[in-house]
Amino acid sequence: MPNAPTILVIGDSHDNPETPGDRYDWAAAAIIDTKPEVVVDMGDFATCGSLSKFEKRGSRVMEGQRFSLDAAHARDSRKRLTRLIGKSKTYNPRLIALQGNHEYRIERAIEEDPTALEGFLSAECLGAEDSGWEVYPYLKPVEVEGVWFCHHAVNKMGKAPGGKYQANMGLDFAMSSFVCGHNHELQRQRKVYQGRVAISMTAGCYFTHREHWATEQQQEQWEAGLLWLHGVKDGDFGHEWVPIGEVERLYG
Ligand SMILES: [Fe+2]
Repeated sequence: MPNAPTILVIGDSHDNPETPGDRYDWAAAAIIDTKPEVVVDMGDFATCGSLSKFEKRGSRVMEGQRFSLDAAHARDSRKRLTRLIGKSKTYNPRLIALQGNHEYRIERAIEEDPTALEGFLSAECLGAEDSGWEVYPYLKPVEVEGVWFCHHAVNKMGKAPGGKYQANMGLDFAMSSFVCGHNHELQRQRKVYQGRVAISMTAGCYFTHREHWATEQQQEQWEAGLLWLHGVKDGDFGHEWVPIGEVERLYG
């Protein structure tokens, strides 16, 4: 790892079988073009709609839902994202995949029915490890060059803080730079603790389709694109945000 590397952050991309995975091809081309030393997938890569606890069995939303379809699509999208890296003989970035609350649906399903599912169902069904990614459990923070990455921060009740407070909570938790996903918004705060810079960011998202579980007003707050952190050292960095439309124009 060179001094002060570049980290590409991919916010929640919410893969699902109903939505084409072209955006993963664009991101793959962006990675090869810009060659960040580290790529971090912030989690909620796979929506796992078939395992939703919010929808009733037999409801219209659940018609046709199958975990096998969710997993197959997520595996394909992960391969599309990683394919060009695999072809390169000279470029070998560190690939970090965090699990979000949507991937955690798998763990929760197993906990509720271990008799049938344990040893059969696992997050490995989504194929990240097979594509060369280090996978970290839901809410397990990972530190790179003084920046902590986690799907979301938690408040004292163990819940995700909402809206504009999420990035704040990350700083308070880590007292260090903190990057999270989850709220799909793009936010940045910068503080200095006794001369030490601490930056918190929420990383937006990386999809443009509509999600039925969020209101229109919520979705209007979401920002889709890719986030580069440049010159990352001791928690300090500059950031570059490229909206998904521009990602498509450059790499589609
Ligand atoms: Fe999400």
